[in-house]
Amino acid sequence: MSRHPPGAEEVLWHDVECGGYNADLPLWRELADAEGDPVLEIGAGTGRVALDLARRGHDVTALDHDARLLDALRERAAAAGLPVTTLVADARDFDAGRRFALCLVPMQTLQLLGGRPGRRRFWRRARAHLEPGGLLAAAIAVGLESYAPERGYDLPLPDVREVEGWVLASQPVAIRPQRHGTTIERVRQLVAPDGRRTQRREVVRLDRLDAATAAAEAAEAGLAALAPREIPDTPDHLGSEVVLLRAPG
Ligand SMILES: C[S@@+](CC[C@H](N)C(=O)[O-])C[C@H]1O[C@@H](n2cnc3c(N)ncnc32)[C@H](O)[C@@H]1O
Repeated sequence: MSRHPPGAEEVLWHDVECGGYNADLPLWRELADAEGDPVLEIGAGTGRVALDLARRGHDVTALDHDARLLDALRERAAAAGLPVTTLVADARDFDAGRRFALCLVPMQTLQLLGGRPGRRRFWRRARAHLEPGGLLAAAIAVGLESYAPERGYDLPLPDVREVEGWVLASQPVAIRPQRHGTTIERVRQLVAPDGRRTQRREVVRLDRLDAATAAAEAAEAGLAALAPREIPDTPDHLGSEVVLLRAPG
């Protein structure tokens, strides 16, 4: 029996932890339908959003700095006959060689860019890639601060998937406020078809950010804020504020 589940582990865990989320899809679909093509997704991962929009007929470019995730996205697009373009690049320093009517930053990718200095570089690159009048929409997690350990809280349920007899379970075990953000600790547990278990701890740090701060930063790059939108909480996921930023026409 194989000692590893099929496929690259980073891809499997990405699917476990992001793949089941869909509360944001109606907003991305609405914006793509309203703004038109082409669409650029920043931090596209294995394509949860990019593939959904491509299936609806949009011309999507998926950017991520992790080539393994984009390999999986490309395979999935090819298997479904969807013409998605992929770009392995850092969101703070990319050149896609074209401009976009819409740029989307789903989930908390905006809070993974290395604080204000990293976001500053991203705003400039995003602005340079928007068509005149183009729109940038970026989600920001809401309510992370309410998870102060001393107040006590129920942690979200684990994200679980079964792949060819292997069970992958990712359980958030702690959400800790820090000075400039929040760390989320997860235990990733892998159960082999014969019952053997291995586990390891993963820590992700999200920068502290709100829509007003993001809008003020983006204004320095020449992007004008519209009224933000909201993605509601679900039983398993925090809600988001979505900052909307328009390039000059
Ligand atoms: C929370 S996941 C979101 C994935 C996907 N957009 C979704 O909604 O399912 C964040 C993604 O951002 C990517 N990412 C993080 N920092 C990045 C950077 N500096 N440049 C490009 N991609 C980045 C990660 O590799 C990961 O795929």
